[in-house]
Amino acid sequence: MIIAVDGPAASGKGTIARALAAHYRLPYLDTGLLYRAVGLNVVRGGGNPSDPDDALAGCQFDDLLLGDPKLRSEDAGATASIVSAHPAVRAALVERQRDFAARPGGAILDGRDIGTVIAPHADAKLFVRASPTVRAQRRHAEMAGMGQMVSVDTLLAEIRERDRRDSTRDTAPLVQAADADLLDTSLLSIETAVQRAIALVDARM
Ligand code: C5P
Repeated sequence: MIIAVDGPAASGKGTIARALAAHYRLPYLDTGLLYRAVGLNVVRGGGNPSDPDDALAGCQFDDLLLGDPKLRSEDAGATASIVSAHPAVRAALVERQRDFAARPGGAILDGRDIGTVIAPHADAKLFVRASPTVRAQRRHAEMAGMGQMVSVDTLLAEIRERDRRDSTRDTAPLVQAADADLLDTSLLSIETAVQRAIALVDARM
């Protein structure tokens, strides 16, 4: 059983994917972390994330980097979205993601292009979305919980910019797969969103 979960930043896809992984007892890969690791590796090495060669060199990261708490920051997300637009970077990370999806017992992956590029034959595909305002408010609450005060307006601008970059790039843009189920979490609690996601996946089995 392969489950693909895609959607924009702060849509709730990570929370839903983790809950699905626990529910179905499947290994889970957060593919955004890979792009975040590439970006952080480039910046730490003094490279320029917009430069395709620097970005490609950043794909040679030590797996220990995947545990770095800095990967979770807004900055790391923004840099990830810059390096992820380079076709060579995407190509360098494809095999690793497809290998994960091909695990014998099945797997669940979340990202932007899982249902379209990485696992187009997934058994169930969810496209998770939420309005930009709701996403900015969620990020605000999450960051406030960590003692970081960033205004909702600033976060809204960052989210819109990341959406624009991820949806308009030429290679593997953020788009709902034709056979994906849409789950809008704007007005849903986490519990309800997870229940709906399980119902949608069950209906595909
Ligand atoms: O999901 P997350 O917000 O951690 O992803 C960070 C960035 O990595 C995204 O904004 C996107 O540009 C990129 N990404 C991608 N393809 C994926 C996962 C993430 O392009 N499968």
